[in-house]
Amino acid sequence: METRITKLLDIAVPIVQAPMAGTSTPALAAAVSNSGGLGSLGLGACSPDEAAKMIAETRQLTNQPFNLNFFVHERPIRDIAKEVAWLDTIRPFFDEYETEQPTALSENLTSFNIDDDMFEVVMELKPAVVSFHFGLPSSSRASALKEYGAFLISTVTNRDEALKAVQSGMDAVVAQGFEAGGHRGTFSTPFEDGYITTMALIPLIVETIDLPVIAAGGIMNGNGIAASLALGASAVQMGTAFVSTHESAANKAYRDFLLSDRAFKTEITNVISGRPARALINRFTDELRIHDRNTPGYPMTYEASKALNTAASAKGSHEFMPMWAGQGAGLSRPMAASDLMKRLLQETNEVIGQLKNIY
Ligand SMILES: Cc1cc2nc3c(=O)[nH]c(=O)nc-3n(C[C@H](O)[C@H](O)[C@H](O)COP(=O)(O)O)c2cc1C
Repeated sequence: METRITKLLDIAVPIVQAPMAGTSTPALAAAVSNSGGLGSLGLGACSPDEAAKMIAETRQLTNQPFNLNFFVHERPIRDIAKEVAWLDTIRPFFDEYETEQPTALSENLTSFNIDDDMFEVVMELKPAVVSFHFGLPSSSRASALKEYGAFLISTVTNRDEALKAVQSGMDAVVAQGFEAGGHRGTFSTPFEDGYITTMALIPLIVETIDLPVIAAGGIMNGNGIAASLALGASAVQMGTAFVSTHESAANKAYRDFLLSDRAFKTEITNVISGRPARALINRFTDELRIHDRNTPGYPMTYEASKALNTAASAKGSHEFMPMWAGQGAGLSRPMAASDLMKRLLQETNEVIGQLKNIY
């Protein structure tokens, strides 16, 4: 199955396992790369030491290329009064779980654009592919990475961002549709301007720019892959489908939710991290929905939710856990990642074969 992406990256299968901070693992990335796709490590929430360790571990498991993913968010404008008000809003949940809540929040996730130690790790280890979420790399970072030959990818959610990705020297874009699980990658427009379904977004971006387009959002099986290729994509990036594989870091509660009726309802919410992201609905997203516009922003809100989830989990409740998932979550299949890759390839070939018979 040759496409522009398989040729450029010298891989056999046009499937990228989405980088998923906290959920993707070296074992998962290696299994996907060893199956001919492109595995990814989501390093957006790691320290430089943790990142170096994960990269080394992955390299022990595969000699195929894999992708390192980083967050490149703008630094937030802090509003301490809003942060205090948010802590007040969520205090009843901490009380319910009889836990002291944090007294203040902090900006504890650093953008790759200003994290010099992380940049040093990357420049030393020289990964084949580097991808970005929440924005674009600074021009100095992008040129340094390109100089040693890295293939650069960034998430875009609309036309404006696709044009900016071209200007900043990206080699490909991930076109992230509205259906996608996890954080919206939108960075240059109001979030609502990136609420475009995958089916509409792929041809729109394919028409707008010359770069290869990797389709993301709601793709769970061979039908979705074949449809994305038919719409002009050169590969797909699948996140949710890999959460239920044996190699992901998802805990039992998350896996149970994905394989239950709870998987059929997702929503885009600000209340977990302070940035819009699609997750399975639980008590947290449900009971705080009316406060969705009042969060103190990313990443401070995330710090509060992580503390709340720790408190609730300690008492056996998973109703406050961020369970990122796309709208196709109900089609999750628990199996080894290599088996999922085989199934996806077989299904895609079957669909393409059937289409040939129809036309
Ligand atoms: C659990 C989870 C974590 C994610 N974390 C990241 C991340 O760290 N970096 C990133 O670029 N995208 C992340 N995403 C978004 C994916 O790259 C991709 O856009 C999305 O998974 C596609 O939609 P799907 O989940 O319906 O396949 C995450 C998605 C999920 C489900």
